[in-house]
Amino acid sequence: MTETTDARVAPTIADVRSRVRDARVRGARVALVPTMGALHDGHLALVRRARELADFVVVSIFVNPLQFGPSEDFERYPRRLETDLESLGALADVVFVPSVDEMYPNGPTQTRITGGEAATVLEGASRPGHFDGMLTVVAKLLNIVQPDAVMFGQKDAQQVFLVRQLVADLNLPVSVESVPTVREPDGLALSSRNQYLDDEARTAAVTLSAVLKDASAAAPRGVAAAQAAGIARVRASGAVKLDYLAIVDPGTFRPVDGAYRGEATVLIAARVGGTRLIDNASIVVG
Ligand code: PAF
Repeated sequence: MTETTDARVAPTIADVRSRVRDARVRGARVALVPTMGALHDGHLALVRRARELADFVVVSIFVNPLQFGPSEDFERYPRRLETDLESLGALADVVFVPSVDEMYPNGPTQTRITGGEAATVLEGASRPGHFDGMLTVVAKLLNIVQPDAVMFGQKDAQQVFLVRQLVADLNLPVSVESVPTVREPDGLALSSRNQYLDDEARTAAVTLSAVLKDASAAAPRGVAAAQAAGIARVRASGAVKLDYLAIVDPGTFRPVDGAYRGEATVLIAARVGGTRLIDNASIVVG
């Protein structure tokens, strides 16, 4: 059970549904911002965008066990509801904070949403099962809240792609909004996992955005040049352990070949100290 007296908090599915129903009766347009909490300015950008698009904003905070692998940071993932509620201020009308039992009363769901080929590459290859767990909880949240619009951060580009595919494949009546990544002044993309970084790792973490910048600058000379520029920056830094650096077609999430021209997405995942970080950027391959 969620321990708080904050009136915005809805701890049960019945509670959030009833508040959304009341808002609908008043004619409100509803937006949902799904999060796992440990909110930072990147999340607040999503909530501000939700406020622009809707009259009634639901923020969900749920650390979803289904999307964590056995050796991942589910137990350690930061949980700090009171601070999150403070940062949300008046931006959220309802904060849906279900327990694991509320979301999964019979244990992990038998029914799963799978994302097909695009869910098995990049993050999907490094984190088997992650996207099935993410898509399953997003489908549940969409069914519970039934919003007009749902917000996602572009920092998780593959997640956004898969949610758009889910919504299109299953004809879900919701508009998926993607909000640009918010960065620290030195370029590091905001992430709840940045708080795992010690001073040395924090300094090294800027390598991810620097790699994207170098790949983007080289992209007018082609895919191979962009890839080589990114790899050169990883080597020069020496401080991060690269998982992947990939350039994909944003329409399919398939890797582009050497002859590709046009808009592409460059994605990086790397370990910095003990922490795995991801980032991406849109580039134009010439
Ligand atoms: O991006 C996240 O924080 C999570 O994957 C999400 C969308 C809240 C689902 O648990």
